[in-house]
Amino acid sequence: MNPFALQLPPRILFGSGAVAELAAAAADYGDPILVVTGASPQRFASVLGALGPHDVVTLAGEPTIDDARKAAELGRACGSQVVIGIGGGSVIDLAKATAMLLGNGGDPLDYLEVVGRGQPITAASVPMIAVPTTAGTGAEVTANAVLTSPSDALKASLRSPLMVPRLAIVDPDLTLSCPVSVTAASGMDALTQCLEPYVSVKANPVTDGWARTGLIHAGRGLRLAFHDGADRGARSDMALASLMGGLALANAKLGAVHGFAGVLGGMSSASHGALCAALLVPVCRANLARASAESRRRFDDVARWLTGDRDASAADGLAWLAETVVEVRIPALSSYGFSAAQTKEVVAKVARASSTAGNPVVLSPAELAAIYAAAL
Ligand SMILES: NC(=O)c1ccc[n+]([C@@H]2O[C@H](COP(=O)([O-])OP(=O)(O)OC[C@H]3O[C@@H](n4cnc5c(N)ncnc54)[C@H](O)[C@@H]3O)[C@@H](O)[C@H]2O)c1
Repeated sequence: MNPFALQLPPRILFGSGAVAELAAAAADYGDPILVVTGASPQRFASVLGALGPHDVVTLAGEPTIDDARKAAELGRACGSQVVIGIGGGSVIDLAKATAMLLGNGGDPLDYLEVVGRGQPITAASVPMIAVPTTAGTGAEVTANAVLTSPSDALKASLRSPLMVPRLAIVDPDLTLSCPVSVTAASGMDALTQCLEPYVSVKANPVTDGWARTGLIHAGRGLRLAFHDGADRGARSDMALASLMGGLALANAKLGAVHGFAGVLGGMSSASHGALCAALLVPVCRANLARASAESRRRFDDVARWLTGDRDASAADGLAWLAETVVEVRIPALSSYGFSAAQTKEVVAKVARASSTAGNPVVLSPAELAAIYAAAL
């Protein structure tokens, strides 16, 4: 058994209608309130209306370093004492980055890993409430915020236990309005974030439990939510899978799927979940080809939980994943403009990516190149 340390979020509210608690919870933390949300704040008008006066930052796309810098400047100008992120993983990451900068001062580049100065984050973030409206990233319970550095064509994290949101409100009803492409991409992200920690080198009995729960619910809900976005049961399954994935990834490692997704996300505007989905089957296939007996047993477990078939083997699990990727219409990497000409650059970056270190097998450059070619 791997030794482990757990990073647990202080408070989570889960369930249909849970967002009704937001206004009262925010009032407990003080004011002024800064709300970070997506490009269509009217989508959550009734939730925001219940909050009373607040300042708003909107975000289109995935957050950049400059987005975080500007949001923090606004928060400082408004004297914000509480930050609420209501949106997908992009919005929640921007809200986490903003709350951290309000608590610590300085610029995102002072603290960013890889592309910044990587200074330690020593002060608490201002109180931050995360309200996810996609079912995918689990960012509401993790300790990092991912920002893109367009000049480096890289994504990098701000990371500290002090960045875990004070409260996560996971209300599956908020995901009912997600369009099919977002349901598919974020759903595949949730599934991947349960699968990779379960087979990672840092898996432990606690993260195993979260991953198992998440995989069972993703297996049940992903295709249903894609085909009928109004299916509340399927939306609840996926919201739970997303939450379980966030808890699991924050307490075990990820793997090569996320190694690739981080690198390719910095080089393109492709969504994080769609990149994970395009890489998932080729990475699992490569891992299985060299799996230890213990690792193969874990892939067998994944297959049983995803398919609901007690007799399923790892090969059945791979087949289920491949069918699902087709059924929920995940684009191949070439559709974002990636080509074989970038193989050397991509492989070198993926080999260095921190997520890749959690992969159950150390993949050679030739194996990483073959995975990339298969996903193209
Ligand atoms: N911090 C972490 O632990 C962590 C983990 C995984 C991923 N991430 C990051 O999360 C981001 C991806 O997040 P995501 O997959 O949630 O996508 P997203 O937040 O980028 O949202 C995708 C699209 O869906 C829209 N949307 C969101 N909620 C909606 C709703 N309820 N109805 C209609 N449209 C809605 C958004 O406006 C956006 O256009 C990436 O930047 C990734 O790097 C962070």
